Amino acid sequence: MIQPPRFSARPNPLVWWLGALVLGLMALACLQALPGVDGVRLLIRATARTSLLFFLLAYTAQAAVRTWPGAWSNWQRTHRRQWGWLFVASHTVHAAGILALALMAPDLFNTLAPLGNRISGGLAYAFIWAMGLTSFDRSARWLGPTWWARLHTWGLHYIWLSFLVANGKRIAAQPLYAVPTLLLLAALCWRLWATRQASRQVGGMPA
Ligand code: HEM
Repeated sequence: MIQPPRFSARPNPLVWWLGALVLGLMALACLQALPGVDGVRLLIRATARTSLLFFLLAYTAQAAVRTWPGAWSNWQRTHRRQWGWLFVASHTVHAAGILALALMAPDLFNTLAPLGNRISGGLAYAFIWAMGLTSFDRSARWLGPTWWARLHTWGLHYIWLSFLVANGKRIAAQPLYAVPTLLLLAALCWRLWATRQASRQVGGMPA
């Protein structure tokens, strides 16, 4: 089970602010580049990609430290919360784009996101926002370590699966979607391998 992270090393708050600034500028650029519905669709696609980047940085942070202990992996892990918050921010902009698309072009929205997608995606959002809200020391303490670990373990895997399905289902129409799909599978294998290595080192106890 995942443990609530202890943040002894000091994360640099600039990482969050810079990431948020880039997200904001990217959102403006998308809406400026293409007018109306096309700009909103561009925003939805762009934020899906920034979300994947931030998600993967958080998802592989522990495995990176276990595999290649060093300055970069330490930096990546120290900023795990920042990657998580940036992922939440990016996917909240994805949600804003979705809402705008639903209001501006309801028929197109129904075609692009049928009911099943909305239900499974809605559950992912419940996890995303619950995980974001409990990624502060005070709220994590309020939830307690057992429920924190349950929420963040199930949420992380469900979000991973959501990305896998969202990218995987597009491969037939556009083979380039194999790139994010393979990245997600590689990230999972990396985590499993790093966990297995760590449990071997501590005499078979899960690390
Ligand atoms: C109710 C929830 C959601 C709805 C209604 C929704 C809707 C959409 C729509 C309409 C698009 C296509 C935009 C276009 O081609 O114009 C899209 C793209 C995408 N969404 Fe979402 N989404 C939801 C949640 C999620 C979640 C939870 C994830 C992943 C964790 C996700 C990942 C993606 C990805 C990877 C793409 C493809 C982006 C690309 O083309 O690179 N979405 N979404």
